[in-house]
Amino acid sequence: MKPGVAEEYDASSATYDSLYKEEQEVKFGFLLNRVRPGGGEEVVLDAGCGTGLLLEALSRRWGCTLVGLDSSEGMLREAKRKGTAANLVLGDIEKMPFKDGSFDIAFSVSVIQLADDPEEAIGEIRRVLKKGGRVGISYLRRAGIAVPRIRGLRVAVHDSETMKDIFLTGYRE
Ligand SMILES: C[S@@+](CC[C@H](N)C(=O)[O-])C[C@H]1O[C@@H](n2cnc3c(N)ncnc32)[C@H](O)[C@@H]1O
Repeated sequence: MKPGVAEEYDASSATYDSLYKEEQEVKFGFLLNRVRPGGGEEVVLDAGCGTGLLLEALSRRWGCTLVGLDSSEGMLREAKRKGTAANLVLGDIEKMPFKDGSFDIAFSVSVIQLADDPEEAIGEIRRVLKKGGRVGISYLRRAGIAVPRIRGLRVAVHDSETMKDIFLTGYRE
């Protein structure tokens, strides 16, 4: 985990939604058009869930089991305060406290550019996905990260200047 990042988000947790909700919701729409939960028994992870904006959208539209992980206590506190219907877990995306193959779907929106090693973070997402599990990841294009290639994860890459992120959508082989 990069030093100082959790503290930065702790400090901005109360204003995050008013500054970024609209911008993030456009990205969620893009991802959910490509990685659409089926509901029912599916278990869905949002890695780097922040204040729970995507989890709220997921719980409004689909009845799946939701898990959110974030390294900032402040962001998680904000998600709890809003009553986000998900299991919220404090942790590092590069070392997640979940068993291999725990999730049917994993999302991570605008997070991995903040990790120490973005490839490690995506490798962790792959590890916690079931075989055939689907994935929707985005990261800030201005971070200038080369598109990570992770063995065992088959993804299409969408580069969007207007949405400010690079999107990877696909599944675990
Ligand atoms: C730009 S915000 C995005 C939040 C949320 N995904 C959204 O779309 O609104 C980045 C989030 O990643 C979290 N984060 C940064 N580094 C992390 C790490 N190593 N492990 C877990 N979460 C991390 C931050 O605390 C913050 O909540």
